[in-house]
Amino acid sequence: MLGIETSCDETGAGLVRDGVLLGEGLASSADEHARFGGVVPEVAARAHVSAVVPMVRAAVDAAGVSLSEVDAVAVTAGPGLSPALHVGVAAAKAYAAALDVPLYGVHHLAGHAAVDVLEHGPLPPRCVCLIVSGGHTSLLSLGDLAHDPVEHLGDTVDDAAGEAFDKVARLLGLPYPGGPSVSRAALDGDPAAVAFPRPMTGPRDAVFGFSFSGLKTAVARHVEAAQDAGRALPVADVAASFQMAVVDVLVRKALRACVERGADTLLMVGGVAANRVLRAEMERACADAGITLRVPAPRLCTDNGAMIAALGDLLVRGGVAPAGLATTAVPTVALSGAGVPVPPASGEAAEFPLPVTVAPGAGVPSGGAGAP
Ligand code: KG4
Ligand code: ZN
Repeated sequence: MLGIETSCDETGAGLVRDGVLLGEGLASSADEHARFGGVVPEVAARAHVSAVVPMVRAAVDAAGVSLSEVDAVAVTAGPGLSPALHVGVAAAKAYAAALDVPLYGVHHLAGHAAVDVLEHGPLPPRCVCLIVSGGHTSLLSLGDLAHDPVEHLGDTVDDAAGEAFDKVARLLGLPYPGGPSVSRAALDGDPAAVAFPRPMTGPRDAVFGFSFSGLKTAVARHVEAAQDAGRALPVADVAASFQMAVVDVLVRKALRACVERGADTLLMVGGVAANRVLRAEMERACADAGITLRVPAPRLCTDNGAMIAALGDLLVRGGVAPAGLATTAVPTVALSGAGVPVPPASGEAAEFPLPVTVAPGAGVPSGGAGAP
């Protein structure tokens, strides 16, 4: 199974056979976005265009196979940045058509969960899963990833955990991507220095819901207060205290979900799961509660192609039918299962506006009709 991932700023390709990672290629355009403080979709898409073929070649070479030995292709169809997703989907269609093999359009977040299979073997029949990425924070109950619907126990009502790290990094003058730079700054800080709030942990709050935008605002107020008072900002202390507030909320809610669901396994995935303090605190809490914690190695937590290949491999082995060349990018698709449903084709609307004849001197009509 060849997996292709281009939903954000990582161009990933991976080759998986029967739950075993054979090879992968990974390129990142993060450096190109650093001066903007966040991912610029068009810049990411152009980087994917140049990197996708070399990364597929790198994965195939690392696996020591030839492209003609690929039996199926899986690609992230959503969620993600629209122009970025389209590059991966177009490339995956080209490979699937040229090799005459099935094509699966898969859900990026289900890929984050599936990648753990490569490291720790098949998932148990049911587990609680905490997904903490740049765009999503959810507590889920997972069964068979290939067939069962994903049950959402709770989601964030505003910012995702990774998004909070990225925004707080900006507030503290730390470079993009924010998660690694905040956690690096936090190494020298005191996590108890600032008593930041633990959002959504009150008696009237949704037990498994999350909210990180208020926490980010609390950090912003703290930064402003220091500036107004002419005090130097203790960046390491603020970073460590913010990080501990996020970790504390994630650990408490994930553990409670396991206890309430009677789950003996917690799966923690997504970019923020690469965070060392989160891994250590979750490990400690799970050990105390007799829960098995499964977390992929940090390099498999952030976006990569192996996770998409791992999920595609589960679908093939589960006998799931591929959508084939009807696969299309769906940038805002919710997580309901492993696949991304192909939206029904519209009979009437042309994909692009029909050309409009403009009378000489009439100017360009508003609305961009006729634009490519
Ligand atoms: O899963 P991912 O690679 O991409 C998405 O699907 O969003 O997650 C990226 C997010 C970013 O917000 C990044 O700042 C965060 O994961 N992240 C971290 C760490 N490494 C990446 N957050 C905290 N600590 C880290 N070490
Ligand atoms: Zn991701």
